[in-house]
Amino acid sequence: MSAPADGTERIYVLAPMESDDVPEVSQLERRCFSNPWPESAYYRELREPERNYYIVLRQELATAGEPEAEREDARGPLALLPRLRRPVRLATRPLVGFAGMWTLYGEAHVTTIGVAPEHRGLGLGEVLFLTLVSEAIRRNAEFLTLEVRVSNRAAQSLYEKYGLTRQGVRPRYYSDNAEDAYIMTSPSLRDPAYRQHLLELKRRLVERLARERIDIVERSA
Ligand SMILES: CC(C)(COP(=O)(O)OP(=O)(O)OC[C@H]1O[C@@H](n2cnc3c(N)ncnc32)[C@H](O)[C@@H]1OP(=O)(O)O)[C@@H](O)C(=O)NCCC(=O)NCCS
Repeated sequence: MSAPADGTERIYVLAPMESDDVPEVSQLERRCFSNPWPESAYYRELREPERNYYIVLRQELATAGEPEAEREDARGPLALLPRLRRPVRLATRPLVGFAGMWTLYGEAHVTTIGVAPEHRGLGLGEVLFLTLVSEAIRRNAEFLTLEVRVSNRAAQSLYEKYGLTRQGVRPRYYSDNAEDAYIMTSPSLRDPAYRQHLLELKRRLVERLARERIDIVERSA
């Protein structure tokens, strides 16, 4: 996908996942994965926000000519996005992505990440992933880890771009086709050199989004 031919800006809103989002997340999950979670698993995850962190990305339907959202930028250096303070009725906006993780015993474990097929290749997967990494750092996790299908080159490439490396294999991890999973883990999230690398990746991502005329704003809980 490339920038729209008419030069208009596309606006996406990143927000914490809420129970009302779950049916739509489930629908999108079925378009992204061959073994989606049952909706009940999401409701369970959302009941423990101190341990779990889930986000959604929706497309804002406003056009570039509308007044600028009021923003607040006073956040840590790894925060990717300005906060959106103008209230938006998000539930009416099309869902284009979702992601989540657990943080437990100083480790963040990415459980899911997906972007609607028609919105892929724009940097939105990176927006979601970098948001998880930033939150893992905010929660003082030391490592970020995940499982990924051995056949899923696109996702592996995203994780490799963010410095994750293969640490092992979980044989027959996926129940639908008995496929193996690679275990991938980040460098220490406390390592200053890795934090510097993340800042550089964020800078490049912001440039890429600007080139694609994509604006991303965050709505806090
Ligand atoms: C993986 C996924 C989230 C990527 O989302 P996306 O919005 O298309 O990704 P981005 O545009 O942000 O791309 C970021 C990076 O991902 C990698 N990537 C994305 N699509 C890729 C593809 N088709 N082939 C190879 N690498 C790819 C690249 O490293 C890319 O960086 P680059 O543009 O500098 O090369 C998306 O493909 C998806 O939803 N897949 C189905 C669900 C899934 O597999 N989730 C992961 C489960 S472990």
